[in-house]
Order: sequence, then structure tokens, then C-alpha cells
Amino acid sequence: MSHDSAIGIHDLSFATTEFVLPHTALAGHNGTEIGKYHIGIGQRSMSVPAADEDIVTLGAAAAAPIIARHGTDRIRTVVFATESSIDQAKSAGVYVHSLLGLQSACRVVELKQACYGATAALQFAIGLVRRDPGQQVLVVASDVSKYELDSPGEATQGAAAVAMLVSADPALVRIENASGLFTADVMDFWRPNYRDAALVDGQESISAYLQAVEGSWKDYGEQGGRSLDEFAAFCYHQPFTKMAYKAHRHLLNYAGHDTDKDDIERAVGQTVAYNAVIGNSYTASVYLGLAALLDQAEDLTDRPVGFLSYGSGSVAEFFAGTVVPGYRQHLRSEANLEAIARRKPVDYAGYRELHERSLPTDGGDHSTPAQTTGRFRLAGISNHKRLYQAR
Ligand code: HMG
Repeated sequence: MSHDSAIGIHDLSFATTEFVLPHTALAGHNGTEIGKYHIGIGQRSMSVPAADEDIVTLGAAAAAPIIARHGTDRIRTVVFATESSIDQAKSAGVYVHSLLGLQSACRVVELKQACYGATAALQFAIGLVRRDPGQQVLVVASDVSKYELDSPGEATQGAAAVAMLVSADPALVRIENASGLFTADVMDFWRPNYRDAALVDGQESISAYLQAVEGSWKDYGEQGGRSLDEFAAFCYHQPFTKMAYKAHRHLLNYAGHDTDKDDIERAVGQTVAYNAVIGNSYTASVYLGLAALLDQAEDLTDRPVGFLSYGSGSVAEFFAGTVVPGYRQHLRSEANLEAIARRKPVDYAGYRELHERSLPTDGGDHSTPAQTTGRFRLAGISNHKRLYQAR
């Protein structure tokens, strides 16, 4: 199969929350030795949404700079990927479409398969652009990762949204044709409709992820994919950053390569900076890895990057993208650092209060506390309808 594809990621922007909880504060509460968080799972802090933030406000905040740069004319499709959906019927993307003033001649849909959803959205977007290269597709991946208080998963929460503009002749990354796929029916992580927080079997989820690395890599080879040593770097789904290291070591072993520590660091080390301080952002996570890589790597021009997208349950895909000459002029490195730096630290009590909050379900008029300083906010709920504000 030819590697060529002139379709891919034209622009990439992300947003995260108003607040941040350092892992030192969580460790102070539960008595965990901080080394377990900083080294054992590779996390320093996690993004915590304000009472007036949700997947819609995060998604709109991520996409707004893309609209400001490229306009709305060519966007005829919005795909919103999430596993922390706010409505069983209406796509969160429709609220984003409205907040951003996109044209009415547009299809908007929500996609779900745990953390894999954004990759499905990207691949579907490429199919649409192939049909009509004049069109662009806005992919928004937005999630709030939430586990029970005082559970092992608690240290791997986080929240963020990534927006990507998919187009022909992309300015950042051309997505290649070969793709390795893997699906297996496992109950490693799930969230029944009646629950706010996910249920997870931690160790089972790690082995299910590693199985999926094997399965998708095997299929990638059978589909005519590149060999392992052609890649400049690998962006893995990062529920916690240590997982990228575990996954790459596993892949090297599976492919019969040596597992040298320095080689693993070279392959994934530049993809973890944003995830280490944001935490698990589910669908957005693998693309936050890409943002960190593009922002930090010296020069990736014409170099292939491997992507391993994993969503519990489980579906995974291994694919490759080639970095486009001139990509550096289109990066948002400063804005990315600012999105992280602008967060205000909360203490453990403040985080716990936000964690325990939920929107009233009585159908009455309720406003939410004005906490976020971001451009979009969830102003309240009335007659079971979420009310959003742009400023
Ligand atoms: P745990 O039981 O709290 O931790 O669960 P542990 O005992 O396994 O320790 C973690 C690591 O810290 C170990 O290292 C320890 O040795 C080390 P490892 O053996 O893994 O290399 N450690 C220390 N290191 C240095 N100094 C110390 C110290 N103490 C211990 N003092 C777990 C950890 C990640 C399982 C838990 O947080 C969890 O359940 N998280 C949620 C599930 C998850 O993230 N799974 C990942 C794979 S599934 C996935 O990625 C999909 C997902 O994103 C959802 C979706 O697709 O929608 C989750």
C-alpha cells in the first residue's frame, strides 16, 4: 500500500480547565508516597473543571482559535468525540457549532468509543475530505475524566479538549493510508448511563491496552505499514504518561527489538509533557501527545510519527502521519503553554467540592457559580436545558 495521502491535520489547538490539582495535594490527603504519582504513573497534576465548565465549553475553547485563523466557509462537518457526553440524544457538537457561529449548511454528530473516539473521527473526516477535497472537517475531542474519590483511578483523572481541522494539503501532519485495527470485547473500563464516574479494573485495563498494541501493530504490518525503525516518535494514548513507556516497551518486545531505555525515551519522551500536567483527557489524550511532540521536537520535517489510539472496551488503531515541511510556522506552542499555565491551583477540599457537584435534575432554573475566566461558560440549566454563554 502506498504511504501517500495528501489529507491530514491542518491545524491543532487545545484547551483545558480553569483549575488544577497538583498530585502533591492528593498525596497529602491520602498518604500516598509522592514517588508513586510522579515516577510510578508519571503524573504531576490534573486539570479540574470549574462548576461552569463542561465538554462543550472546553470543546468550543479549543476550536475557537482554529475558526479565528481559518474561518468557517469550508467547514461542512463537525465531529465531536467524547465519552463524557452530556445528552443521550443531542450532539454536544451542536452547542459548539452554535457558540462558534458555524454555517447552518453543516452536519454535526457525536462519536463514542471510550478514548478511541477522536481517532475514529479523524479517519471519518479524512474519508469525507477525500470525497470533496474542497471541504474541511472540524474534529473536536473533549472529555472530563472522572473516577470515584479515594479510588486507585482518582490519580489518573484530568480534562481537556483538542480541536483539529482536517483538510487536503494539511499544514501539520499528513495521515497515511495504512491503518492497523483491533477490537476485543473486554470489560476493563466502562461507565453505565446512570453513573457519573467510570468503573475500572486497573490492572485488567493495562493488559487490555497492551493486547491492543499487539493486535493493532500486527494488523498494521499486514496492511503494508512501515517498519518500526522508520518512525521518529510514537504518540500513544496516555491515561497516565508511564503508560506510553509501558506500551512502547511492549511493542518493541513484540516486534522482536531490544528494549533499550534511551531508545524508549527518544521514542516517547517528547510526547508526555502536556499529559503529565493535564492528566487523562480520554479522547483528546493522544493528540495532546502530538501537540507536545510538535512543540518540542527539534525538526520533524518529512519524518513519520506513529500513533496508537486505545479506547477501553476495546478498540485500538495504529497509524502513521508524516510531518509537513514548514509545519513549525503553524504551531500554537505559546498558546498551548498558556492554556496550561493559566490554570489556578485548587486545594484538596476545593477539588473534592467540585468533584461532588452535579447539575440539579429537577427541571428548575439554576445558575452555575461564575468561576471560569475562559471565553465560554455553562451559565446554568433551566427546564432541563443547558444554557451556554460566550464572552
Ligand atoms: P494502583 O494500584 O494505584 O498503582 O493503580 P500500582 O500499585 O499499580 O502502582 C503504579 C506504579 O507505581 C507501579 O509501577 C508501582 O511500582 C509504582 P509499574 O509496576 O506499573 O511500573 N510505584 C512507585 N514508583 C515510585 N515510587 C513509589 C512507588 N509506589 C508505587 N513510591 C492504575 C494504578 C493506573 C491501575 C490506577 O490509577 C487506575 O486504575 N487508573 C485508571 C485506569 C487506567 O488508567 N488504565 C490504563 C489503561 S486503560 C486506558 O488507557 C483507557 C482509559 O483511558 C479509558 C478509556 O479508554 O476511555 C482509562
